[in-house]
Amino acid sequence: MKLVKLLANLGYGSRKESQRLIRSGAVTDEAGHVLSENDLPPHDQILFRGEELDPPSPLVIMLHKPDGYTCSSEDPGSTIYDLLPPRYALRNPGLNPIGRLDKDTTGLLLLTDDGKLLHKIIHPKSGCLKVYHAVLDRPLEGHETELFASGTLVLNNENRPLLPAKLEILNEKEALITLHEGRYHQVRRMFAAAGNHVLDLKRISIGSLKLPDDLDEGDWRALQPEELESIFR
Ligand code: URA
Repeated sequence: MKLVKLLANLGYGSRKESQRLIRSGAVTDEAGHVLSENDLPPHDQILFRGEELDPPSPLVIMLHKPDGYTCSSEDPGSTIYDLLPPRYALRNPGLNPIGRLDKDTTGLLLLTDDGKLLHKIIHPKSGCLKVYHAVLDRPLEGHETELFASGTLVLNNENRPLLPAKLEILNEKEALITLHEGRYHQVRRMFAAAGNHVLDLKRISIGSLKLPDDLDEGDWRALQPEELESIFR
């Protein structure tokens, strides 16, 4: 990989712009030596305007998704990509959400440019359980736990039953729900099938990876290798 291509792939600019940036002296090594197009030190020793270069591919990011942001870059209005530096939306390979959240769902969202990893995490067979905290409009009636665990619940406009899901009731209007899969609006549609309505929904974990307490809404960071491993634990 050439330095120009590396910068362009990380979204710092088109190839031409990246070439211009290098020629202008924006890219240095740790000692402050200006790098030329033919230099390529180890990634973690390259600085862009004095700052560490963004992490290379493959990359996994965790984001605490706030309410009101959609997960598709093509949607009008605010998207999760607005929460990252603009160049992150220009990376090649691109970053995609690992299991989208609805516009009004908050919580743990992972993004990656590693297609194999993405499929491994979202595939029901991976055993990566996703846990959601739901606040409901009406009191739980008691039949929901069995209905969700049955493996026979079929959602509107679908013909394949849902895999069994675990419901843990916290109080009359709050529950944790654990899913193996991620169908469209799944949690909201499950509670609708049980005659209720979800007022508030937050994903709190994926596998053994929990949304960290110190990651505020709208904040994000690259996943550490041990955190990535914990997804499959
Ligand atoms: N289920 C939903 O209904 N919405 C989400 O965003 C995630 C799971």
